[in-house]
Amino acid sequence: MIPYRRKPTYLPASQCPQSEHERLAMPQPIANFDGEGWHQPEPGYLAQMNQRGAVFMMGQNPNLPVMPERPQLLDFFHFRFTDITFRHLLQSAKHALDAGHNETVVIACLLHDIANGALLRSDHGYWGAQLIAPYVSEEVAWAVKYHQALRYFADEAAGFAYPDAYNQFFGPEFAPPEYLQQAHREARNHRWYMTSRLITIHDVYAFEDGVEVDPEIFTDLIGRNFRQPEEGLGFDNSPVAHMWRTMIWPNNFL
Ligand SMILES: [Fe+2]
Ligand SMILES: [Fe+2]
Repeated sequence: MIPYRRKPTYLPASQCPQSEHERLAMPQPIANFDGEGWHQPEPGYLAQMNQRGAVFMMGQNPNLPVMPERPQLLDFFHFRFTDITFRHLLQSAKHALDAGHNETVVIACLLHDIANGALLRSDHGYWGAQLIAPYVSEEVAWAVKYHQALRYFADEAAGFAYPDAYNQFFGPEFAPPEYLQQAHREARNHRWYMTSRLITIHDVYAFEDGVEVDPEIFTDLIGRNFRQPEEGLGFDNSPVAHMWRTMIWPNNFL
């Protein structure tokens, strides 16, 4: 239990859309590929639809916390991100803040892994950068995008060694693919290199269990560095609004 997570509320099934029907939530296609191979769940679900008159879920899932009508950034932290992501992002940002870094670095740390929180792990730096691009400075989105590649490459002079955890995660002989090597080369020569590098530096220390950070300490900093749309994330018609809506209603059939 993380004491700072807001208490979720749930909508009874009888008040959710399609409440007169049995509702089926089919996994997203990307989750059909796992260690066991390629699952194709459609025929089974279509059979349930035909046999039992069930429908495919659209809108609020009664088992997921209700989001506010106009969700803001921290609502996704509280009601959509996993505990590990919630804790990791807040610890990273707090660590950067305590080290005296500027707000650009702190907000970049706070946002760097949001794709892992509720959307996609694979290429998370790139997804994360896209999610935030309309709302943050170009430098912050750039730093989030490139932190993914920079995590694989030591820079002892800057104070970043290859993470021990990566030897465990991927095996000691793992070599990053060419596209990440190229991204690393690009980033090394970029004027914002250190912003992205600092994400990786404050990332290292941010997996501690039992160290809890109250997200409210970042409210003002978010206000200054993340342009929250008045209509709420997901409803502002921005080029990435659909990505936020996908996190709000991850079970939508289409
Ligand atoms: Fe990351
Ligand atoms: Fe991280």
